[in-house]
Amino acid sequence: MREVEIEPSLYAADFLRLGEQIDGLLRAGARIFHVDVGDGKFIPPVTIGPVVVQAIAPIVHAGGGRLDCHLMVDDPTEQLRLIAASGGDSVTFHVEAVDDPAGVVALGRELGLGVGVAFNPGTDVEQAAAALDGADLALLMSVHPGYSGQKFIPESLERLRRLRALVGPEMLVQVDGGIGDGNVRAVRDAGADLIVAGSAIFHQDDVPGAYAGLVRALA
Ligand code: DX5
Ligand code: ZN
Repeated sequence: MREVEIEPSLYAADFLRLGEQIDGLLRAGARIFHVDVGDGKFIPPVTIGPVVVQAIAPIVHAGGGRLDCHLMVDDPTEQLRLIAASGGDSVTFHVEAVDDPAGVVALGRELGLGVGVAFNPGTDVEQAAAALDGADLALLMSVHPGYSGQKFIPESLERLRRLRALVGPEMLVQVDGGIGDGNVRAVRDAGADLIVAGSAIFHQDDVPGAYAGLVRALA
């Protein structure tokens, strides 16, 4: 069985209590935190970015965690420099936003970051898989990027199986959007290594308990 990580998406956090919620999740065993950077162009809202990464990086790193930054932006080359300077550990940019994915991957590497390539529900899986040269990770979006709390697009499971078959066993495959207790296992079984969950963790009374519940659902 593959090692699978549940990755809390901070976009859905209570920002008045962000440090406390991250601390609780670290205690519950979460080690990768998903940071959704939105520029108001690639997606409508401006979300969170380098200033927040800089604020939380010390407690995440002290707890043995990593910050995985999902760049839903038109200009990932600029943002990934800022993320690297702020203490982010990895970046994932959208194939729809760039002309030269291999160049962006190379820049991320130069900056010492892990690098992933994301693609939208409307983007061809084969086309996305062809843009993964040199990357560590492929991120399949199971909702249209922009907001937490959307419904999982059912075709994503079939797309995920196709992606896994195309990229082989070594590439990390991440899935993001609409994942909770009811479908986390199906997402794992279709080939995901990293499973992002926002509202299923943060929009619950017991945030660490909700994280632990998703981990248990995979057992
Ligand atoms: C959506 C973001 C996701 C989002 C996931 O555009 O990329 O990371 O926070 O939230 P849920 O799990 O609620 O769909
Ligand atoms: Zn995301």
